[in-house]
Amino acid sequence: MSSVEAFDDKQQLAQAAAQAAVDALKTAVAANGQATWVLAGGSTPLAAYQIIARDYQEAIDWSKVTLLIGDERIGPLDGPDNNWHAIEQTLTSLPTQKLRPRSDQSAEQAAVDYEQQLDSIPKLSNGLPRFDLVWLGVGEDGHTLSLFPAHASLLPSASLIIPVHDSPKPPAERISLSLRALQGTQVAMILASGADKHTAVSSALAGNHSPIALAVSIIETHDGKVTWFVDKAAATD
Ligand code: 6PG
Repeated sequence: MSSVEAFDDKQQLAQAAAQAAVDALKTAVAANGQATWVLAGGSTPLAAYQIIARDYQEAIDWSKVTLLIGDERIGPLDGPDNNWHAIEQTLTSLPTQKLRPRSDQSAEQAAVDYEQQLDSIPKLSNGLPRFDLVWLGVGEDGHTLSLFPAHASLLPSASLIIPVHDSPKPPAERISLSLRALQGTQVAMILASGADKHTAVSSALAGNHSPIALAVSIIETHDGKVTWFVDKAAATD
């Protein structure tokens, strides 16, 4: 059963999320000698990355942490749509390992390339990459990663990274972790702020179907721990 932590506003949420991420990564490094963190795009996670870069530089041996991103938009690597670019500029002072998606290729090629890069991540006994920490955003429609409601991105796939076409939210071409890849998640944090997320958050917490609800269910079925970090606006009517 996932737990919910609610905060007055987005900044307090970001503060708590930053602290919780560092704690989870520290625990993973202590247990396994290294940690893998799947990042999320969006403005809520970005606020937390800024806090981490400012306040948590010395909190952990960042050279033992590998960063990757859960989904990316196809387009120029330094373009305004590129999630990795914005995150990297924020976290540039942390000496982490970084797996950057080559999203300047077709979605098919970029997915194959990123799946190959994921090969360097330590595996669980079931052969899937172990994701010590996964951050997930939530869209107004209940999407997470680039997995959209009633969309081909939700179809079962043997791949860890899938190409996504015709995304209902622009840009249309993307790559995303698959639902299968989420089975390797040890700790997941869902970050949702703003009144426009209220319907998606309350619906998922009430047990209705949506991509974020499905992601939670898959992670929990595989013994991952899920915590929602929401602000008041997202949590209340
Ligand atoms: C995208 C966005 C999107 C975003 C959520 C939450 O895929 O086009 O990145 O999925 O993560 O909408 O965004 P905020 O944190 O900015 O509310």
